[in-house]
Amino acid sequence: MIEKTPYHFEKNYISIPDKEEIVSFLKEEKGLDFSGYSEASVRRRVSKILSDLRLENVQEYITYLRNDSSAVKGFIERFTVNVTEMFRDPQFYKTMLIDVLPTLQKLEKISVWSAGCSSGEELLSLAILFKENGLLERTTFLGSDLSPKVLEQAKTGSYKERNLATYEKPYFDSGGKHKLGDYYSTYGTDGVFDKDLRANFRFEKFNLVTDIQTQQFDLVVCRNVLIYFNSQLQNSVFKSLNISLKPGGFLAVGSKESVIFYEDKGSYIEVKPESKIYQKNQ
Ligand SMILES: C[S@@+](CC[C@H](N)C(=O)[O-])C[C@H]1O[C@@H](n2cnc3c(N)ncnc32)[C@H](O)[C@@H]1O
Repeated sequence: MIEKTPYHFEKNYISIPDKEEIVSFLKEEKGLDFSGYSEASVRRRVSKILSDLRLENVQEYITYLRNDSSAVKGFIERFTVNVTEMFRDPQFYKTMLIDVLPTLQKLEKISVWSAGCSSGEELLSLAILFKENGLLERTTFLGSDLSPKVLEQAKTGSYKERNLATYEKPYFDSGGKHKLGDYYSTYGTDGVFDKDLRANFRFEKFNLVTDIQTQQFDLVVCRNVLIYFNSQLQNSVFKSLNISLKPGGFLAVGSKESVIFYEDKGSYIEVKPESKIYQKNQ
């Protein structure tokens, strides 16, 4: 019988005091606040970083972060989970199509914010949905993330074609009307999305925990980001997202997330049960 190594015997086991030491170092010396991230996720990520960098312990890593000015950028790249897909969770896009777009259709101008957009696949998926339903030209799209690396990729609009091929089915299941391949041109192994689709895109670095959004949007999409935060931090991020949403605007979270930890959740109604798309009261 194969016995699994218990977590606390793993080489790079991160104890609670270790976790607190690195979190307070990052906050006090680097201005990065991860104190509201769920404990398990911080310990798992830091353990993986130590193992990748072949470091013995958290104290060695702190010395490295303290002495190398570019190491913090590397920390953000390694710490954040940037997994994303086009048309991730097709039911979300179907609900957008059927239950949200008819309301947005009535607006003269539409503003969309994908907060925690990773490398941009989510924003492109929305842009395609908007184009196929005649809303693209009057819409501005902001994509933001904590990690500058993923934003650089998002700005290129270029992805491995072998990955794009796997998005044809979710695109179709999302209510797509053509072929995903109609929206990009192939250069070698890459597919580059058409410029007209991305004409109204803007990307910026934005930390949902500490930065303040000054604009108000008709649709805010913050999917698969809050799952890494504890309930207090989720509440505080919801408060900020609420301020950045126009009355009657829509807020979408991931399929495993909800507004349950938001103290003012009563000011939202879910557009369809279990859709995780909420409309703010007018
Ligand atoms: C799993 S990805 C989700 C991407 C996309 N929304 C989706 O659902 O496919 C989570 C993203 O949230 C970003 N993130 C994590 N903490 C953040 C923070 N405090 N502020 C802004 N973005 C953050 C990560 O860098 C990562 O790109």
